[in-house]
Amino acid sequence: MADPKIADTKPAVLEMAAGTYWYCTCGGSTNQPFCNGAHKGSEFKPEKVDVTEDGKMAFCQCKRSGSQPLCDGSHRNL
Ligand code: FES
Repeated sequence: MADPKIADTKPAVLEMAAGTYWYCTCGGSTNQPFCNGAHKGSEFKPEKVDVTEDGKMAFCQCKRSGSQPLCDGSHRNL
């Protein structure tokens, strides 16, 4: 599988409301960290994220985290 694009080299720290979201795994969305359909025609698919309670979340935008969709600090090694 090809490497995803690096959308940004820092996480997106967002106040999330409980609900279902679609995380961009390809790095091509202009609505990071969420899918906007830009992956179409590629081997990537968005990842469903079920947020069970309101709160702050740090989403990976470098797409290199081992804990996607969440940041694990991997952007520091880019
Ligand atoms: S736009 Fe990146 S996974 Fe959909």
